[in-house]
Amino acid sequence: MELCWPLRVVLALLFGTASTGAWRASQPRLQFTHSELIQNGRLLTLPLVAGDLSMLLPDEDGRRLFVALKDNLLSTSLDDITQNPRKLYWPASPDRVQECLMAGKHPETECGNFLRVLQPYNQTHLYVCGTGAFNPRCVFIATSLFLKSDHQSLSYGQTECGKGKCPYDPHQRTASAVVDGELYAGITSDFMSRDSAFFRSLGNRRVMRTEQYDSTWLHGKELTF
Ligand SMILES: *[C@@H]1O[C@H](CO)[C@@H](O)[C@H](O)[C@H]1NC(C)=O
Repeated sequence: MELCWPLRVVLALLFGTASTGAWRASQPRLQFTHSELIQNGRLLTLPLVAGDLSMLLPDEDGRRLFVALKDNLLSTSLDDITQNPRKLYWPASPDRVQECLMAGKHPETECGNFLRVLQPYNQTHLYVCGTGAFNPRCVFIATSLFLKSDHQSLSYGQTECGKGKCPYDPHQRTASAVVDGELYAGITSDFMSRDSAFFRSLGNRRVMRTEQYDSTWLHGKELTF
């Protein structure tokens, strides 16, 4: 009997979802196995050095694919991803890297600008945030920027404070979405990663967040902003 209960829970969840007609996972439109792709010669490789790849964002209208890495945002052609991508180099400020190292963090895996938020903002701009060596920063990036040249860079002064938008620690999980010009971010919002919360920012309304140090917000409690 004891073995039965997990199954019943799963069934209850399935029926619960079906009967209320509420949230349903969307189905992938196409599925290929790895071997099918190889057989059809459809397996393409992005020419990237191995490293921290956190997000891919396709822009079907602009036929571009944006790739969020450590210290770099890449833009590659959706029509031929094997072409060399265009690169926007956006490192953490050297001062912050020094502070990060002094705090005992790892030079390669922590004290860099790990891009963790990559959202389409409007027709012309993306909104992107990085951990900035434990000093989160964000910036609006015009997608047309990538048309200008292959390699460009972004300095600290061109970016804005990313607190409440991006985690400090690149190892923390992050969820984000831009809805009607507002950024919703599910992040740990402090240096020690103790404070998990949802934040609403950008746009004209004031910044809002869920209760401080109350992780039940992220574990099943209903959300009312
Ligand atoms: C998109 O948002 C950016 C940043 O707020 C703004 O500068 C730009 O004019 C907007 N573009 C459009 C088409 O509204």
